Amino acid sequence: MTIRTRTQVGIVGAGPAGLLLSHLLARAGIDSVLVENRSRGYCEARQRAGLLEAGTVALLRSAGVGARLDAEGLEHGGIYLQFAGERHHLDFRDLTDRTVTIYAQTEIVKDLIQSRLAAGAALNFEVSRTSLAELDSERPVLRYLDSKGEQNEVTCDVIAGCDGFHGISRACVPSVSIASRDYPYSWLGILAMVAPSTDELIYSRHSDGFALHSMRSPKVSRLYLQVPATEDIANWPDDRIWAEMQRRLGMPGWDLKEGTVAEKAISPMRSFVASPMRYQRLFLAGDAAHIVPPTGAKGLNLALGDVALLSAALVALLRDGDPSLADAYSDTCLRRVWRATHFSWWMTSMLHVEPDADAFGAQLQLSQLRYVTSSRAAATSLAENYTGYYRPPL
Ligand code: FAD
Ligand code: DHB
Repeated sequence: MTIRTRTQVGIVGAGPAGLLLSHLLARAGIDSVLVENRSRGYCEARQRAGLLEAGTVALLRSAGVGARLDAEGLEHGGIYLQFAGERHHLDFRDLTDRTVTIYAQTEIVKDLIQSRLAAGAALNFEVSRTSLAELDSERPVLRYLDSKGEQNEVTCDVIAGCDGFHGISRACVPSVSIASRDYPYSWLGILAMVAPSTDELIYSRHSDGFALHSMRSPKVSRLYLQVPATEDIANWPDDRIWAEMQRRLGMPGWDLKEGTVAEKAISPMRSFVASPMRYQRLFLAGDAAHIVPPTGAKGLNLALGDVALLSAALVALLRDGDPSLADAYSDTCLRRVWRATHFSWWMTSMLHVEPDADAFGAQLQLSQLRYVTSSRAAATSLAENYTGYYRPPL
């Protein structure tokens, strides 16, 4: 037996994009059904992003889900860039009058899930066999098996594909065009139960490879190392990770504190942009449509920015019968996506050691790093991109 229901917006994926979309739509009186193939616990624990642009913080606040972010988020007024044995500070407050905030993606997901469930929302975890149909009709259909194995069919006005890079939605856009770049290295990321050794993030270009010192809270550090693209995590016992962090981040007179490694994983690096981000009544948002390499921390910010635009477009379409924002959605998003794609690629290229690097490539990197740490114009360009060149609409 098939359970048939009706909603205005079918949402695939309970990552930050899908959850915030369901929340913003509900605030405007639009109902949605959200399906997610993982469990609630898995979604809440998945270690990923941690750095929010100023506009993303403003968006979460204005959406009414900023209370814990305001209480626990760590506001940073800049970053350190380290290279050739020197550590330089870039002061974003001075350069752009903006800041960034450390607040883990896990916490945003928890806040959104709690707020949606408290409002009685239909969040369906642990579904399987999600599929989309009738996308070029007025009533697209979302089908899935629920956690009890029952077949569900939801008739929608619109479907939002917020199902990440490995989801099913993107493939439902006929003749989607892809622009992409793979990088010959990955990031090995650790969560360490030790107070951060720095007040603000350190991005280090070292001749042995890139390293980043980030954090999650006053007691938890998050650190990353550049490793070869094909690297196996089994080759990285904790001792080796810390020795490499010490080598790549170390500075005379500065102490990198080591602690218990609670988690470690290797993530590949990729730039990927799918266009258009809409087909008829299907709209893509977040990682379902685009991926950036993590250097510069744009992925989560882009995903939430897409959804701010998408919710405004869907409210205009479904409540007011005005299709203009929906029609502009893909182009508006892609302009922002390409700015972040360029910035992430540029930061990545400046800071990572290419496997076939020669003296020419190394000197270009060092020259660029000297330029952004000595020219106010160049530093301002980095700062305005890092803190968010485009702000999401509130
Ligand atoms: P996702 O978070 O991928 O959510 C998609 C959801 O859809 C998932 O829950 C998935 O289970 C579900 N799903 C998939 N297929 C289906 C299906 N068929 N049916 C139902 N559900 C489905 N970004 C930043 O801005 N700052 C950072 O500091 C940063 N650091 C990062 C560090 C790492 C190591 C990594 C890997 C990423 C980082 N990112 C960062 C990127 C950021 O995490 C992503 O851009 C963000 O998660 C995108 O959110 P999303 O909702 O679009 O997709
Ligand atoms: C983090 C990740 C990034 O890619 C980055 O540029 C800054 C911070 C983080 O996970 O904390």
